[in-house]
Amino acid sequence: MAPAELRSQAWWDNAGNPEMTALYLERFLNFGLTPAELRSGRPIIGIAQTGSDLVPCNRHHLALADRVRDGIRDNGGIPLEFPVHPLQETGKRPTAALDRNLAYLGLVEVLHGYPLDGVVLTTGCDKTTPACLMAAATVNLPAIVLSGGPMVNGYHQGQRMAASGSGLVIWQSKRLLATGEIDYDEFMARVCASAPSVGHCNTMGTALSMNSVAEALGMSLPGCAAIPAPYRRRAQIAYETGRRAVDLVREDLTPREVMTMRAFENAIVVASAIAASTNVPVHVNAIARHAGVPLTIQDWQRVGADVPVLTNVAPAGEFLGEDFYRAGGVPALMRSLLDAGRLHGDAVTVSGRTVAGNLADAPPADPAVIRPYAEPLAARGGLLVMTGNLFDSAVMKTSVLTDDFPAVSDYRAVVFEGPEDYHARINDPGLGVDEGCILVIRYTGPIGYPGSAEVVNMEVPAALLRMGVTTLPTLGDGRQSGTSDAPSILNASPEAAVGGNLAILRTGDRIRVDIGQARVDVLLTDEEIAARWATYTPPALENQTPWQEIYRATVGQLDSGGCLELALSYQDLAHTKGIPRDSH
Ligand code: FES
Ligand code: MG
Repeated sequence: MAPAELRSQAWWDNAGNPEMTALYLERFLNFGLTPAELRSGRPIIGIAQTGSDLVPCNRHHLALADRVRDGIRDNGGIPLEFPVHPLQETGKRPTAALDRNLAYLGLVEVLHGYPLDGVVLTTGCDKTTPACLMAAATVNLPAIVLSGGPMVNGYHQGQRMAASGSGLVIWQSKRLLATGEIDYDEFMARVCASAPSVGHCNTMGTALSMNSVAEALGMSLPGCAAIPAPYRRRAQIAYETGRRAVDLVREDLTPREVMTMRAFENAIVVASAIAASTNVPVHVNAIARHAGVPLTIQDWQRVGADVPVLTNVAPAGEFLGEDFYRAGGVPALMRSLLDAGRLHGDAVTVSGRTVAGNLADAPPADPAVIRPYAEPLAARGGLLVMTGNLFDSAVMKTSVLTDDFPAVSDYRAVVFEGPEDYHARINDPGLGVDEGCILVIRYTGPIGYPGSAEVVNMEVPAALLRMGVTTLPTLGDGRQSGTSDAPSILNASPEAAVGGNLAILRTGDRIRVDIGQARVDVLLTDEEIAARWATYTPPALENQTPWQEIYRATVGQLDSGGCLELALSYQDLAHTKGIPRDSH
């Protein structure tokens, strides 16, 4: 591409309004850039910085950005780093999911409104990856993902065990604490031991799942996702990513040329083979919609249901992210899937090569961690997309369906109005919770919570734990942590707060779960359901911030990605809207 065609030239050489050129240039000079540099026709590459003290999972991106800058400079570009609204999964109340669309919105505005020709998206913690990819899809400037990588393995009392993987350790140690097998100090020690270095969660939770999926989509350099955060290789790929970003601008290779339907089908296959977090379909469907690709929740079952789980990584398996990297990472996994005929090898990627081209020199997989296709960890890794008279769609991870999980079973519903109600009452003997129960939680979806909280993975009462019952089926209109290992029916859409039938469920109702038919039904007649609606009073939903009110007024349901719905009419801004008006 000729320098004159660069988008940033509209700022640095404003032909129609020459005085504005001076106004745009002068402030970028105040930290030492020169007019000659900015006007040299070199691509201006943004570095969308998601790391900060508030986002410890991504904080090392502050240092990695120096290597990204080196790569951009060495390849003839000029880096301009800027912050992305902080998105940290465990620290943000009431939930980081509320802020995914806010970070998306902010990044769209930055990419559209500043003199940028391309962007490096720094990703890591759960919501950072989808927020960045959603914005890149909307604006459609050349973009490349640099993930931050997982923390190294955690050790506790000399043992590396999957149970000490970040996130997962919480659920497992809570059970031990509840039964008195460990005390609070030991509980705290275990949880803290799971976070031994910089980086994001080291289990196959939402962070590692989403970054593996970003690589499978073709949006990062091959091999990027699994490199542990502190490894030398991580800083090297930061440099290579910076270099490549400049070429993407020169080649005008945009996110929409990479994130096609075929790329999304590849992403679903990889998500299934890693037994990805149940948050992944929400985020991937959102990215697809912003990219103008008509992906639906049903596509997850169509494409992914019969894909075997190959990665022996927690919570489905026994290893962690560092082991996954040493076993060959996403390229070794994708190589097996390609050889098995499960991937579109011709999909284009940001490397400039196709998927098959990237994988030609993929390392061989260590079969202990990445199983051969013919000898999987589990025969089916995809999602079951459920329907029934309580919701239009909900998802269930097939990898949690152990052999003793009944194909058809009726349960007694025990209904909670949110996590506060659950914590207050779960150990009340009067609830009569036993092995025949399903724990239900409602008003925890995008509008109910607001933001849709990871609260569906409810622990069983301590009394049941002591009897050896470690999990019960759960059902809800919220989400569950990607590191959870419970058999849960999640993301029920529509949620109770917008008229889903979960709202009229009562404790004591019978619920039939039919895995074969992929149905969940409350055993009530249509007349009984209608009668309950006739006397229904919706709970008051309080907004605590202005964004919560805006979010509730604009968000869609989880099955279609929980998107800011009005944003879907803004597609491919770089090519449909052109350069914004002058600022003065
Ligand atoms: Fe940030 Fe898990 S909490 S990656
Ligand atoms: Mg989470």
